[in-house]
Amino acid sequence: MTTSAPGAPTPSSPAPGTPAAPAVPAVRGVGLRKTYGRGDAQVHALDGVDVAFARGEFTAIMGASGSGKSTLLHLLAGLDAASAGQVFLGDTELTALGDDALTRLRRQRVGFVFQSFNLLPMFTAEQNILLPLELAGVRATTDVRSWFDRLVDTLGLRQRLTHRPSELSGASSSASRSPARS
Ligand SMILES: Nc1ncnc2c1ncn2[C@@H]1O[C@H](COP(=O)(O)OP(=O)(O)OP(=O)(O)O)[C@@H](O)[C@H]1O
Ligand SMILES: [Mg+2]
Repeated sequence: MTTSAPGAPTPSSPAPGTPAAPAVPAVRGVGLRKTYGRGDAQVHALDGVDVAFARGEFTAIMGASGSGKSTLLHLLAGLDAASAGQVFLGDTELTALGDDALTRLRRQRVGFVFQSFNLLPMFTAEQNILLPLELAGVRATTDVRSWFDRLVDTLGLRQRLTHRPSELSGASSSASRSPARS
């Protein structure tokens, strides 16, 4: 998950002698509950989860199958609604946003690599990478182009840009799920 939006303000330094305020976590869940189904079929996938992730860290969430890992990730990324509790992305409370604002936030601030890649089969790797930017109305400026070149070279995708998803390896498919710009 990438949480730093282009142009996001950076916190200023505290005045000398002032204790530094604790950094705002990249993402935070407070009292998260998620219940699926009703009656006998009811499942409490999350039952009051408090969790916070600092900026710039990698975290693995581990647990038995059915323990609620995917449910938690979906709530933290604003892909699904919690039954109760709050999710914060930086200072923004996701759980207080309407559908339109949530869609914009997901497009601009969250990168998600799904277990199944969800690439569009008729588009090349390059088109799949650039699609989220096009949908967000981002113009192909020199900055955007240099970000794209850096991404492609870092991921070793240069030779695969004109390939369609059916012609990509698993690793290349995963890399073609363009994360939000950071
Ligand atoms: N859409 C849904 N409708 C009903 N129950 C669901 C739904 N999605 C998940 N569940 C149930 O919620 C619980 C948590 O599921 P979840 O997919 O979050 O687990 P997980 O830890 O990601 O499992 P896995 O390791 O197998 O991917 C499970 O009991 C699952 O059957
Ligand atoms: Mg899962």
